[in-house]
Amino acid sequence: MKIIPSILSADFSRLSEEVRDVERDVDLIHVDVMDGHFVPNLSMGANVVSALKKSNAVKMDVHLMVEEPAALIPSFIEAGADMISVHVEACRHLHRVIRMIKESGIAAGVALNPATPVDWVRPILDELDYLLIMTVDPGFGGQSFIPSMPDKIREAAQLIDTRKQHVAIEVDGGINTETLPLCRKAGASLFVAGSAIYGHHDRHQAIQGLLKSSTSSTGPLKRK
Ligand code: DX5
Ligand code: ZN
Repeated sequence: MKIIPSILSADFSRLSEEVRDVERDVDLIHVDVMDGHFVPNLSMGANVVSALKKSNAVKMDVHLMVEEPAALIPSFIEAGADMISVHVEACRHLHRVIRMIKESGIAAGVALNPATPVDWVRPILDELDYLLIMTVDPGFGGQSFIPSMPDKIREAAQLIDTRKQHVAIEVDGGINTETLPLCRKAGASLFVAGSAIYGHHDRHQAIQGLLKSSTSSTGPLKRK
């Protein structure tokens, strides 16, 4: 399993130091790219990836929350992205987009909004390196985990398992020491966490706490 800090919750005025602060604990960071159309927010572009590549050693997991991302993908590949995910809801020609990412030699993922059924990726599952199951509606950090998402993760894990495929399940949104074990138990192995890491002064301790929580026994999440 891997913990992947999302820099959306980091201090943008000192991004490189914020990344350095987690580098001894993780080998990947998560970069949220928002276009103000697919999601109601704007964040950062390929120039941030390329700047961080120059100053930091960590690998970059780029999450594209943009409409029709094909035109932007080459700039993220050139900037040094190591993994790129696109939203199934944002791509008219999803298979072509995935091929485009894979042909550049980096890992390709597809993200599903909470209300999008797992079935939507069934026909292209064998093309994927990872499936990103959003556990909040994308667009903002610090939102509450949607309690029905572990069932969806379980459904995706079973589908991957019956097909004997090697597709990792990544989760993103509201991941903390309470929700991480639920997702882990359901079959996720890549855990994106923004506020649960950057919302704490001691990032090392926050990451260790998340890692430790993965083995804690879990009851059902209390609905708020
Ligand atoms: C939300 C982004 C997430 C966000 C997660 O649209 O995709 O990666 O940074 O933040 P937390 O962990 O605070 O929910
Ligand atoms: Zn994200």
